[in-house]
Amino acid sequence: MSDMAYFYDPNKTFEDNCDNGPFNMDLTSVKNTGEPQYEFLGHKVYLPFGIPAGPLPTSKHTTAAFKLGYDVVVYKTQRTVPFTGNKFPHILSLKLDGDLTLEKAAGSIVADQNYPEDLSKLTITNSFGMPSQGPDFWIDDLKKAIAGAGKGQLLIMSVVGTIQDGFTPDDYYNDFAYGAQLAADAGAPVIEVNLSCPNVATEGVLCYSPESVLEICKRAKKAIGDVPLLIKIGYYRPDQQDLLEEIVEQVSPYVAGISSINTIAAAVVDKDGNQALEGEGRLKSGCCGAGIRWAGLEMTKRLDEIRKRKGYSYAIIGVGGVMTPDDYKHYVSHGADCVMSATGAMWNQYLARDIKASL
Ligand SMILES: Cc1cc2nc3c(=O)[nH]c(=O)nc-3n(C[C@H](O)[C@H](O)[C@H](O)COP(=O)(O)O)c2cc1C
Repeated sequence: MSDMAYFYDPNKTFEDNCDNGPFNMDLTSVKNTGEPQYEFLGHKVYLPFGIPAGPLPTSKHTTAAFKLGYDVVVYKTQRTVPFTGNKFPHILSLKLDGDLTLEKAAGSIVADQNYPEDLSKLTITNSFGMPSQGPDFWIDDLKKAIAGAGKGQLLIMSVVGTIQDGFTPDDYYNDFAYGAQLAADAGAPVIEVNLSCPNVATEGVLCYSPESVLEICKRAKKAIGDVPLLIKIGYYRPDQQDLLEEIVEQVSPYVAGISSINTIAAAVVDKDGNQALEGEGRLKSGCCGAGIRWAGLEMTKRLDEIRKRKGYSYAIIGVGGVMTPDDYKHYVSHGADCVMSATGAMWNQYLARDIKASL
């Protein structure tokens, strides 16, 4: 296993991944040729396919992704203050048959560190708590990440607010805007606010609170001016359709795109039924990979349907369970303007190349 190629090696600590990753990648074999034919958020790209916020925590990682032909690449979510994330391990393999349905997610799921070789069966949980080295590190590193994009490639910066001592909700919303502003000042061509992290219990999952979403979008957009703003949201159950529509309507004047989905939260246990990941508030953690594809596809379709019915112009970034070229095509046929893969690209460095070869 030690010589497997990984953007982010799940068997190594976050620090090791930041300092020494990516690992064993083959960075010379993939090349874009000709002229980029697609337009995404005002930028020409070779293919609107890439890696969402997560597996790429530094500019070394984002640059490696660009070299491997991922043309739309998101830098892992950062904060305005240094923040220690959860304890290692951060990733486990779910012992799951088929889809992670809402019924299964309502129960508990066994997980360990043995990953299946068949990627169509690879569903994982990730629970980082969004660690950040803080702006002293990431502002300079973001500039390197932006410089690492080649012709026809686009770097997106993901930011999140942090609840700090004495903070009111207002301060918290302003902290999102401050993070977005720092990213814009560093030259980020597109900025995403993460409204859907399930792994920091005290911060909650904001995307289900219309007031929070609206305030954050208003303030972030004001802070970044003409730079396109994206929101990253989670899955909305069918009985939350009105909530989804309300949120989409409210944010439509401010956002250029909606990235969906993040993860589906479930209780994750070891083979004896005990909490698998050590730490308070960590019984439930976000699950991703093949088992959540159904949810990402469904949300893409619903966002596309709302867009058409109401005449909105936001772009849809389809995320969740993209493991093969066919998955990419399904997302596009469901209405995605851009498609991204975290788990699939982590286990197959050549996913972008394979998709391009299949078109
Ligand atoms: C290792 C890892 C770290 C992640 N960290 C973040 C993050 O910092 N911010 C974020 O918005 N999403 C994060 N995610 C969620 C992904 O962006 C994505 O929404 C989710 O994994 C579903 O896609 P997938 O099925 O292709 O993995 C992370 C996912 C993984 C696998």
